[in-house]
Amino acid sequence: MGEHRGHRWLRWPSDPARTRLAFGADYNPEQWPRHVWPEDARAMQTAGVNIVSLAIFSWARLQPAEDEWNFGWLDEVMDLLHAHGIAVDLATATASPPPWLTTKNPQILPVDRDGRTLWPGGRQHWRPTSPIFRDHALHLTRRLAERYGRHPALAAWHISNELGCHNAYDYSDDAAAAFRAWLQARYGTLDALNQAWATSFWSQHYSDWAQILPPRSAASYPNPTQQLDFKRFSSDALKDHLRAERDLLREITPDIPITTNFMIMGETSGMNYADWAGEIDFVANDHYLTPGPQEYDELSFCANLTGNLAEGRPWFLMEHSTSAVNWQPVNVAKRPGQMARDSLTHVAHGADAVCFFQWRQSAAGAEKYHSGMIPHVGQDSDVFRAVTDLGATLHKLAEVAGTSRTRAQAAIIFDWESWWAAELDSHPTSRLRYRQEALDWYSAFLNLGIRADVVPTTAPLEHYALLIAPILHVVPQPLADRLRSYVDNGGHLVTTYFSGIVDENDRVWLGGYPGAIRDLLGIRIHEFTPLLDDQSVELDNGTTGTLWTDHIELTDNATEVLARYKTGDHTDRPAITRYVTGTGSASYVSTRLGDTGLVTVLADLASRAGVHSELPEHLRGRVELAARGPYQFLINRTETPVDITDIPGQRLTIDRPRLNINEVVVLRSPTLLPDAEPIDS
Ligand code: GLA
Repeated sequence: MGEHRGHRWLRWPSDPARTRLAFGADYNPEQWPRHVWPEDARAMQTAGVNIVSLAIFSWARLQPAEDEWNFGWLDEVMDLLHAHGIAVDLATATASPPPWLTTKNPQILPVDRDGRTLWPGGRQHWRPTSPIFRDHALHLTRRLAERYGRHPALAAWHISNELGCHNAYDYSDDAAAAFRAWLQARYGTLDALNQAWATSFWSQHYSDWAQILPPRSAASYPNPTQQLDFKRFSSDALKDHLRAERDLLREITPDIPITTNFMIMGETSGMNYADWAGEIDFVANDHYLTPGPQEYDELSFCANLTGNLAEGRPWFLMEHSTSAVNWQPVNVAKRPGQMARDSLTHVAHGADAVCFFQWRQSAAGAEKYHSGMIPHVGQDSDVFRAVTDLGATLHKLAEVAGTSRTRAQAAIIFDWESWWAAELDSHPTSRLRYRQEALDWYSAFLNLGIRADVVPTTAPLEHYALLIAPILHVVPQPLADRLRSYVDNGGHLVTTYFSGIVDENDRVWLGGYPGAIRDLLGIRIHEFTPLLDDQSVELDNGTTGTLWTDHIELTDNATEVLARYKTGDHTDRPAITRYVTGTGSASYVSTRLGDTGLVTVLADLASRAGVHSELPEHLRGRVELAARGPYQFLINRTETPVDITDIPGQRLTIDRPRLNINEVVVLRSPTLLPDAEPIDS
C-alpha cells in the first residue's frame, strides 16, 4: 500500500463498478431522537445522497467513561444507512475529547502564547503533542477500526476533523518538549541552530536545548526564525497525529482508503497542506465562502489549489454550506442557484464528492444557525428542493467522475513557507497579505478568461508557459536553481515585491534585493519603500500601486522597463521590469496593483508568453472555464445572463442558449481545448 496521494478513492459498498459523484453531508444522528433516523435515511434517498460522514464529534457518546463503551447506536445507524444504499465516511471520532478525559487529564488542554489554558466547553481542546491525548485517541481509533472495518457501509476513514482548526498553535510544556525534539532532528547540533536562528543578535545564544521555548508572548519580537520554525513544527505536529491514526487504520483495515478534511479557505494558514497531501489516500477539503467582491474567485482559487494538491486527481469536497454559516460577523444566506454553482465549481476543479456541513440543521448548540441540507423549516423548503435538484444534477454528471483536471498553460505558485515568513512581525510593512496578492493574480486571470492552475512549489513547473510567483518570499538555493532552469528552458516567470528575499532560515540574501533571483531578473533593489495606508503611486501604464514600492536599478542592458512610476519617491524609475534570457523571461512587479491593475499587466505578460484565453471574446471575464478530461465547465461569474449560443459541445446540464446568474453548463468533448493534456499525464 503506497503513500501516493489520490491513489485510492472511496470503496463503494454496493455496486462498486458504477461511476458516480458522491453527494452527502456530515450526519450527526446523536443530536436527534432515534425515531428521526429512519426519516433521515428516507429523506437522504429523496435528495440523492449516497454518502455521509459519521461520528465526527461522537467521542463522548461512544466512550461515556474511560472504561465504558457504547457502540449500539452507531451499529444501528450504520446498518440503517447501508440498508438505504448510503455509504459511510466514518470518522475516527477523535476531534473533540470528552469531559471525563479532560477532567482526569487537564494536561492535554492546549495553552495559548500568553500562557492561558484553552478550557473545555467548545471543541478541539487538545494538544497535538500530548502523549496522553495520543494514547486515548489511538485507543478509540482502534476500537472503531476493529468494530467497523468490515461493515459493508464503510467507504473511507475520516481522520479527526479539520486538524488544527482551533488548536494549530499550542505553546504548552508538551509543545516545548516536542519542539526541542523537532529542532534536534532538523539541526542536529545547537551550533547549527544558533547559526540558523542568528542568536548572536539580542543575546539569544543557546547553550542547552532545554533553554529553547516555543515563541511565547515575549517582551519584544520573538526571534523570526524561531517563529518560522515553530510554524513548521506546529504543522508537523498535527501531521504527526494524522500519521499516527492513519498507520493504525492501515494496520487494521489495509483496504479502506483514508482521508482527513483540509481547510483550504480564507486566511487559515497553520497547516502546510502541500506537505500533508501525500499522507492520505485522497485529498479532502472544506470550503466556506468569504463574503466580499472576490467571493467567487476565492472559492475557485481554493478548489483549484486543492485539485492541484491532489495532483490533478479527483478529490473530496467534505464540507461547504447550503446557505449561511454561523461564525462570520454577518452570516449571509445564499441566493437562488448559488449553492449549486458553488458545488459545481468545486466539481469543475476536480471534486468527485460534494458534501455539506451538515445533513439536518441543529436545533440547539453553537451551530444551530448554520444552514443544513434539511433546514429548520423542514423538507418543504427552498433549501431542501435546491438540495434535491443538486442531487439530480450530480447524478446526471456521473460520467465526469474519475476524470483528471486538465492542465492550464499558466500557473500561480502558492507557497505556505512564504505565506508564513512574509507575514512575520518586524517587517517593512505589517499590511502585506500574501494570500490576497495571490488571489488578486487569480482574479486577473479570471477577468481575462485565461485558465491558470494554482500550484505548490513542488509542482512540475516546466509544464507551464507562464508562471506567476507572487510574494515568493522564501527562496532557498534549490528553489532559486529551479526557477533559473525554468527560465533557461523557455519559461516565463513573473514575480513581485518582497519575493526572493530570504533563505529557508529567514536570512536575507545580501547584495541587493531580491538576492536569490536578482540575476535572473536583471535588477537590483536598493531599498524597500512601502507606502502608508493613504498613499498610492501612479504608473505610466495607467495603473495605480499601493502598499509597496521599490527602488530598482537595472543591472543589465537587456532588462526592459514595462512600466515606470509616474508619481511618488521613485518617479521615472522602473516599476515593472522584464529580462529576456534566450527563449524565456523573468519579470518583476514592484508594487501592489490589485485585481484591476493586474489585468492590464497580466494581459501584456501573458501575450508575451504566448498564453491566450481559450474562450470566445464575448465570454472572457464573464464565465470561468475549467476542464476535466473531455468535460468543460462554463460558470457564470457575473450578475447578468451570458449568451452561450455559439459554444460547441454536447450539454450535460442546462440546454438553453444562455447562462443565467449562478448557472453552470457542463459540455462534453474538448472543442474549446483541443490540445489540452490531463494534469497527471
Ligand atoms: C467546520 C467544521 C464543522 C462545522 C463547520 C461550520 O468546517 O468541520 O464541524 O463546524 O465548520 O461551518
